[in-house]
Amino acid sequence: EYGFFNGEFITLDTAKVQLEDRGYQFGDGIYEATRVYNGKCFALERHLARCRRSLRELRIPITYMDEELTAIHYDLIQKSGIQNGVIYFQITRATAPRTHYFPDQVIPNLSMTIRESEPNRKWQEDGIACMLAEDIRWLRCDIKSLNLLGNVLAKQAAHEKGLQGAIQFRKDTDLITEGSSSNFFIVKDGLIWTHPTDNLILKGVTRSILLEEVIPQLGYTVVEKAFTPEFALSAAEAFVTSTSLEVTPVVNIDGHTIGNGTPGKITQSLLQGYRELVQ
Ligand code: PDD
Repeated sequence: EYGFFNGEFITLDTAKVQLEDRGYQFGDGIYEATRVYNGKCFALERHLARCRRSLRELRIPITYMDEELTAIHYDLIQKSGIQNGVIYFQITRATAPRTHYFPDQVIPNLSMTIRESEPNRKWQEDGIACMLAEDIRWLRCDIKSLNLLGNVLAKQAAHEKGLQGAIQFRKDTDLITEGSSSNFFIVKDGLIWTHPTDNLILKGVTRSILLEEVIPQLGYTVVEKAFTPEFALSAAEAFVTSTSLEVTPVVNIDGHTIGNGTPGKITQSLLQGYRELVQ
């Protein structure tokens, strides 16, 4: 496993965390995860644009340019020899004596890793079973920040039940937001429903590509409007999207079968349309 830290390429066994990195002590930073298909980064421009937005929202100075970040991605691919995998990178505000307010000298830290991986084809073919979990996260879920405890606890609860995912809903409104590390969609009466991009969900790159490229091409219609868990349980189809899952059907939620319990036709055509883009 290969990595990069502040200007140097490293192997993961020799990498060291700086104890007063604010990412380590406060979760004060942002991250991105991008897929490498056949030695090429997929939708890297979209990920870098979201990265810049996350940094801006957290008032972390932008010290790494897109060209530089792109070059490091390709250096990691080349050095590791990995053709299909996931590159993870994070930028933290600084390493500085621990105070809650920003330090005077802010020099962000960049770290990056590459790992071999393929999307889970069995999940894509058979569909996954998920649970409903209360969304206990903060109110800026649109920022891809390092604070992931809400997501971690939701995913762990699903894992302990032997399920593959958690679909989160806000208790105050009884509306579904998104998965623990994915966006959530349903199909009902031929329409594709998903939560609008506000402060309560992450604007997923996979979600954007489906909405802007795949869905229009296939001639489907999207309703960007929040819906309740009850509404979702009566859907004909359901699926989640993310960089790692691509488009993965959800065939069971909280023990309730979705549709006939197998991946839906529209979901399958969206996965196929997406797969054509990544080839
Ligand atoms: N997941 N919502 C949340 C809370 C996420 O963590 C992610 C990403 C998404 C989907 O975003 P994208 O399509 O840009 O990957 C939505 C991680 C990085 C993943 O599973 O790959």
